Amino acid sequence: MRRFRRLRASESIRRLVRETHIEKSSLIYPIFIEEGENIKKPVDSMPGVFRWSVDRLGEIMEPVRASGISGVLLFGIPAHKDPLGTSAYDDNGVTQNAIRKIKSEYPGTLVIADVCLCEYTDHGHCGVVENGRIVNDLTLPLLAKEAVSFAKAGADIIAPSDMMDGRVAAIRSALDNEGFEDIPILSYSAKFASGYYSPFRDAADSAPCFGDRRTYQMDCANGREAMREIRDDIEEGADMVMVKPALAYLDLIRRAKDSFDLPLAAYNVSGEYSMVKAAAAMGWIDERRIVMENLTAIKRAGADMIITYHALDAAGWLEEDR
Ligand code: PBG
Ligand code: ZN
Repeated sequence: MRRFRRLRASESIRRLVRETHIEKSSLIYPIFIEEGENIKKPVDSMPGVFRWSVDRLGEIMEPVRASGISGVLLFGIPAHKDPLGTSAYDDNGVTQNAIRKIKSEYPGTLVIADVCLCEYTDHGHCGVVENGRIVNDLTLPLLAKEAVSFAKAGADIIAPSDMMDGRVAAIRSALDNEGFEDIPILSYSAKFASGYYSPFRDAADSAPCFGDRRTYQMDCANGREAMREIRDDIEEGADMVMVKPALAYLDLIRRAKDSFDLPLAAYNVSGEYSMVKAAAAMGWIDERRIVMENLTAIKRAGADMIITYHALDAAGWLEEDR
């Protein structure tokens, strides 16, 4: 008789035949930085996540360094917001200051800078608004300026999340023109208009004040279109690509992995995190088991790296399991 159970008999043998592993080196932790001083503000919808001011970043960067994960993804929340998101490309802006601080004190941690306008605009959209519409081509030069400003501050990787068409090419040529030809672009290529972002908008103060993001972010029904988006970003010069969110889009992570050979990231987004935290707080699930199962599923689907709010907890559990 075929007995699959022979290879399941003990943890030692299960470990031997295990097909998928999570490495700390593939984890990236998002951090929210609010302009101001002495801030450690809990994000109500994301238990365990805080907004930090630059002067207190050490309190989260020390655990990040100790955890052994590869890097952080930075989201700045400026004091000043306006229609064109000028704080995004102010060389003295909150995000730029955070990048400089982290790169000078934690040079071994990769700093990935999220490039978008929604945290910096007063209307909360990811692009320039004219007559109630989000105008693609007026947005591109602003994103390019923002990317160059982040690179100047010392960002290791530039990650555009806005979903304007042509932004990877615009950012690539601006970076090259300013002497940053060695800075890679991690593009949020297949980013869906998703209900799973709600807690993030709370965390980053970036909810659109009218309408929604469906004219630029993707329709969740479209898998083939996701592959077109990824192909186009690669042609425009992306070095790494992303599928976002992760858990409801595992099929697309697998398709992207099979279709393209660039490093592939998955973003385990805020709503995915908050649902786990809420159910765990109710005592309905075992948080550690569920988190590791979710991260394993994302890797098994084909992600090379995972951006996740669970990164520090997961790194700690991986260390315990060693
Ligand atoms: C901003 C941005 C968003 C996220 C990453 N960058 C929010 C959005 O598009 O509304 C979502 C991250 C998360 O939910 O964890 N463009
Ligand atoms: Zn945005």
